[in-house]
Amino acid sequence: MKTEVIHFSYQVFNSAAELPAAYNMLLEKAKAATAHAYAPYSRFAVGAAALLENGEVITATNQENASSPVGICAERVLLSAISSVYPGARIHTIAISYHNQKSQVSRQPVFPCGICRQSLLEQQTRQNSPIQLVLGGLEGEVVVINNAANLLPFGFSGKDME
Ligand code: THU
Repeated sequence: MKTEVIHFSYQVFNSAAELPAAYNMLLEKAKAATAHAYAPYSRFAVGAAALLENGEVITATNQENASSPVGICAERVLLSAISSVYPGARIHTIAISYHNQKSQVSRQPVFPCGICRQSLLEQQTRQNSPIQLVLGGLEGEVVVINNAANLLPFGFSGKDME
């Protein structure tokens, strides 16, 4: 028997103002996108913005439904849109922010849900390069993760079926 340890490092910035300018700009786009979320049920508006390697920036939001399982997280709306509009494009960085319309508090990062982590892993495997994540509320600390797969240890991918 042996014990293995998984660890990864990530960066925590005290505020968006401390971020490298390109990350701050992308996070600003994610924040602005929250205004376009369709979240009448949770009133938790999520915005995501991707910087592609071709320089394009594309944004997306969560889209809810009266039948709750039909709703889609901002991250998966984003990945689907990118695949459809820029097929084959590699994603460099994704920024994610949110506006909690109930509490009006948005001071710490939220992290992608489990299904979105799996979808991010699929995209990384597909493009064969890591996707960086920039995660922050409308204010407060911002977390930067340099490989989305770090959020899904033991993740299952197509490579497992080869
Ligand atoms: N949501 C996202 O869009 N992304 C996440 O990573 C977490 C949750 C959405 C789904 C739902 O519309 C609302 O936030 C509350 O769960």
